[in-house]
Amino acid sequence: MKTEVGIIGAGPAGLALAHLLQRDGIGCVVLEAQARQHIEERVRAGVLEQGTVDLLNELGLGERMMKQGLMHYGVELRFLGRGHRIDFADLTGGKGVMIYAQHEVIKDLVAARLKTGGEIIFEAKDVAVSGLDSEIPTIRFSQNGIGEELQCDFIAGCDGFHGICRDSIPAGVLKPYERVYPFGWLGILAQAPPASHELIYANHERGFALMSMRSPKISRLYLQCKPEEDLNEWADERIWDELDQRFAMRDGFSLMRGAVLQKGVTGMRSFVVEPMQFGRMFLAGDSAHIVPPTGAKGLNLAVADVRVLAAGFKEFYASRKRDLLGRYSEICLRRVWKVQRFSWWMTSLLHKFESDGEFDRRRQMAELDYVTSSRAGMTTLAENYVGLPME
Ligand code: FAD
Ligand code: PHB
Repeated sequence: MKTEVGIIGAGPAGLALAHLLQRDGIGCVVLEAQARQHIEERVRAGVLEQGTVDLLNELGLGERMMKQGLMHYGVELRFLGRGHRIDFADLTGGKGVMIYAQHEVIKDLVAARLKTGGEIIFEAKDVAVSGLDSEIPTIRFSQNGIGEELQCDFIAGCDGFHGICRDSIPAGVLKPYERVYPFGWLGILAQAPPASHELIYANHERGFALMSMRSPKISRLYLQCKPEEDLNEWADERIWDELDQRFAMRDGFSLMRGAVLQKGVTGMRSFVVEPMQFGRMFLAGDSAHIVPPTGAKGLNLAVADVRVLAAGFKEFYASRKRDLLGRYSEICLRRVWKVQRFSWWMTSLLHKFESDGEFDRRRQMAELDYVTSSRAGMTTLAENYVGLPME
């Protein structure tokens, strides 16, 4: 088998890249280790930046999102029992974010690709890459027990943090940068109407909590926990009681409770490798970088990477020039580091750090006070949250 671009991974990065290439008339094959149903049900991100929303619409993939997604023009920061709204529309010239589940985006992208005859090979096993610095990089994999080989002009490593692409680059080429946080998030999806129509990020002395949603009837809630928290110790009642304490307001507040549909613990890390390319393989999305979820940026950053990559491929197939492809990593990393900074900052602003003393707690409250009372402070948060402009 032969193709122009072999894409490994059918997450937001791989699928968005496939659609961008299809639009530009460039051939590609997508290989995914999991079954279609698995990737269409995996509960993950929920916040799409304005730029991500615009891109999905431009590609003709936004119909269901525009009907079922919820546009939000602000968030609440809650601390010391009081709520403070950050008004995105006012601070950013009318921008906002779309609340629409990542697995719904995946469903839309998979359906549209298959409908137009595009290929996605699900349940591809033993995926391995070779010849990355040759003219014909190759992907080997097996499907239904039969070994296959896919020769490509280029490979896009869109296989997430635990994929094989990053580790296939020879030792010493990539420089990793990493910070692991001393806490995780315990997340639930609940059959309960959200208690507020916008997201609430709460800094409480018991730890961080976040109220998000998937629809007017389904809430998505998170609370800061130990990195290896044992879910068995968290009966539903205990989760709701803890959330109620962390969201408590001076003048009263309570969440609406309902059946817990899904429960999980996520670790928190910041991670980047430089450069994001080697020979004819390009890393995009979580395979090259991870952000802690506090800034709601992971999916959006994955989509931003593949926009740059697709522009590079478009230039190459139009003119055989490799200027943009050669600068792929440099262009992406400028955004990646700004998003890393924002995600780290939101995480430090909102979480309880066990190592912190009284001084740090006071400093954190002063920063929250500043960020919610100075127009400059609020604008910094708002313009990063809705998404920095693409270069
Ligand atoms: P992935 O989505 O991980 O996709 C990689 C794909 O590659 C997967 O389908 C995987 O099965 C496949 N794969 C792996 N190995 C192989 C292999 N060897 N061969 C073939 N295929 C392979 N981001 C936001 O923007 N906003 C949010 O609100 C947000 N909230 C989050 C909340 C949680 C609890 C979590 C866990 C994450 C959140 N994120 C959020 C992050 C976001 O989900 C990720 O950044 C995003 O999925 C990255 O997309 P990707 O395509 O790079 O990687
Ligand atoms: C979510 O809805 O899953 C979500 C929202 C905001 C975040 C992280 C996750 O910062």
